[in-house]
Amino acid sequence: MIDLFNVRADTPGVEHGIHLNNAGAALMPRPVLDAMTGYLRREAEIGGYEAADEAQRRLDAVYTSVANLLDARPEEIALTENATVAWQMAFYSFAFKPGDRILTARAEYAANYVAFLHAAKTQGVEIDVVPNDSDGVLDPEALESMIDDRVRLIAITWVPTNGGLVNPAAEIGRIARRHGVPYLLDACQAVGQMPVNVDQLGCDMLTAPGRKFLRGPRGTGFLYVRQSLLAHLHPPVIDHFAAPWVEPDRYELRADARRFETWENNYAARLGLGVAIDYALALGLEHIEVRCQSLAMLLRAELRQLPGVHVHDLGPKPAAIVSFSIDGHPAETVRSILAAAGIHVSLSKPSSTLLDATARALPTLIRASPHYYNTEDEIFALAEHCRRLTS
Ligand SMILES: Cc1ncc(COP(=O)(O)O)c(C=O)c1O
Repeated sequence: MIDLFNVRADTPGVEHGIHLNNAGAALMPRPVLDAMTGYLRREAEIGGYEAADEAQRRLDAVYTSVANLLDARPEEIALTENATVAWQMAFYSFAFKPGDRILTARAEYAANYVAFLHAAKTQGVEIDVVPNDSDGVLDPEALESMIDDRVRLIAITWVPTNGGLVNPAAEIGRIARRHGVPYLLDACQAVGQMPVNVDQLGCDMLTAPGRKFLRGPRGTGFLYVRQSLLAHLHPPVIDHFAAPWVEPDRYELRADARRFETWENNYAARLGLGVAIDYALALGLEHIEVRCQSLAMLLRAELRQLPGVHVHDLGPKPAAIVSFSIDGHPAETVRSILAAAGIHVSLSKPSSTLLDATARALPTLIRASPHYYNTEDEIFALAEHCRRLTS
């Protein structure tokens, strides 16, 4: 059970408004803030390189924190400046040939999909979108029936940016393994709000940012690459950290996943990421998931009672991203009205998940994403403001 009093006492941001934009960037807990400001102070006091030397053990431990979060090994983790860079590093490591196929989901994130289109343009790959089942989640049977010997990659978003849909990531993993197809999982909106175990998921690569449900700082992310695949993936770009220059005409690629990193980094942010992960692990991802689900369910139930309000989340057991629209009230206006009342939500534009938005004729949606530190009263406050708009 999560002690709401304690986690709120640990969260300075709760004094400043009702934060329901955790799918955008969650409020950092105080230990994260303290680790980062403490480290920055040392950079100012003794110099950036000296501060890194001093904190070397804690900086190394960030890899262990990420590995613990995913049930992976530290050697399988690369730290990046966001999730997109992590994803790009994995994706662009594949040397696709004309005719290779990529299987993906309908609710795929825009950054991923434009990379597929780029690979289609430059390398002649074919992009095939796996249909959803009647519940609106990716249909694993359809996925399996689409696999042939031209499929080079399955790249799926687990929880999309535009709603609570939870794609069957582990079932997809079992199919990928059965057919020996590499599996890249975008776990951006899942990590931090539910348990993540790369062996149970069966994914070969997984990406996530620090700032969303993990409650870490902005400008952080990570890539997991399964050990057995690492040796076969050459990063699309390298520097002398990824690949030390060992002879005038030769470099040696690092053996671990840090071959996807570069030399210079924001160490304060990295430390913040590590602390955020340790904080989530100490609370327990199972407990976090239960609370996130219950707040999201409550919000959906409240919104569904309101005339003219439409909840758009798909799937039988949606996660803590609640997407909705209100007849006659553009999402941008609703967001501004809520912001004026101190309630932070965000918007999901059709262009962030264009295939899904087109298939469902979605307008720009209001996205409210509660986290375990939100209260039921905060959910009621959001619902009440929506009710005033509809009456
Ligand atoms: C599903 C999904 N994938 C990828 C990303 C990109 O993450 P980042 O902004 O850290 O690059 C996001 C960000 O909103 C996302 O929601």
